Amino acid sequence: MTAEDDAAPTREVSGERRPADLLDEARLRPRRFDEYVGQRRLKENLRVMVQAARGRNEAVDHMLFCGPPGLGKTSLAHIIGEEMGVAIHVTSGPAIEKKGDLAGILTNLQAHEILFIDEIHRLTPAVEENLYPAMEDFRFDVVIGDGPHARTMTLPLPPFTLIGATTRTGLLSSPLRDRFGFVGRLDFYETAELVEIVRRSARLLGVTLEERAAHEVATRARGTPRIANRLLRRLRDFAEVLGDGRVTEEIAKVGLDRLDVDAAGFDELDRRLLVALVDRFGGGPVGLDTLAASIGEDASTIEFVVEPFLLKEGFLARTPRGRVATPRAYQHLGRPLIH
Ligand SMILES: Nc1ncnc2c1ncn2[C@@H]1O[C@H](COP(=O)(O)OP(=O)(O)O)[C@@H](O)[C@H]1O
Ligand SMILES: [Mg+2]
Repeated sequence: MTAEDDAAPTREVSGERRPADLLDEARLRPRRFDEYVGQRRLKENLRVMVQAARGRNEAVDHMLFCGPPGLGKTSLAHIIGEEMGVAIHVTSGPAIEKKGDLAGILTNLQAHEILFIDEIHRLTPAVEENLYPAMEDFRFDVVIGDGPHARTMTLPLPPFTLIGATTRTGLLSSPLRDRFGFVGRLDFYETAELVEIVRRSARLLGVTLEERAAHEVATRARGTPRIANRLLRRLRDFAEVLGDGRVTEEIAKVGLDRLDVDAAGFDELDRRLLVALVDRFGGGPVGLDTLAASIGEDASTIEFVVEPFLLKEGFLARTPRGRVATPRAYQHLGRPLIH
């Protein structure tokens, strides 16, 4: 179980995928570059790569997408398949348990097709090692027999594209990272981009979403499209039960407050972290493990799920001596700044 799994069930504003997201996620997922909002530089680079590969009638280079959950890594992999006009085979690091599993997957690929490995940092070392020649030379080595009679047979593979996605770049071995021709990092989204995303989602879901309500959702979505879409679905419920079905500004405010999502998009866990840092540790610096233990959370959940957004928004800083609360954190919590 990963930190991501642990955090998933409890937080309305965690970026991780939940079972309830799956149904709508397929409907809301952008299919083409034109529908994919934001990440402009990354998108333009990918467009060029895809167009060039198509022009040469080659598989597009192997690529790796990194970034916090819910920012659009899986969506990009599907878009590349769509734009290349090839099939995409989806699996994940933990799903490929043995070398034989990998052999099965690889030998099923057709030329130029895409193999998408989600959570690629969770591949076992044995599987990973066998991925190297596949990526580099499009071959798979099988050992037949054992002992003195063992011999290696090489299976040729069609030229294919490996797309990896990870929330934890740091856990990727450098030999694996080096074999990707392209590494794309996804950033948190701007409010205007999230407005565009929820508007599109509302249209696809057949929900009337008022302009100000869209803005309200966007500012409270922790910079994350998956969260924005999830909040929209929750507000649709509130609108149907408490109102006339339209998501108005009023419904948005009431609903978001009831969901315990505050004006900065923080939920209970974000606030618990900041409160502990400010009130219990005098604003820091305090080590990650100590901080995590003090609020009863897993250190890696804090580091890879909670902190990135707080860092990006400038509520928290990482220093060599530990985590530090910024003046903005004091302000948000309504605490006087005393040092
Ligand atoms: N750039 C984007 N434009 C529009 N919708 C997006 C974008 N990125 C993500 N989404 C929405 O958020 C959902 C989650 O994105 P996903 O690609 O699964 O994220 P990740 O794989 O990084 O966790 C998608 O189903 C889609 O509805
Ligand atoms: Mg994903």
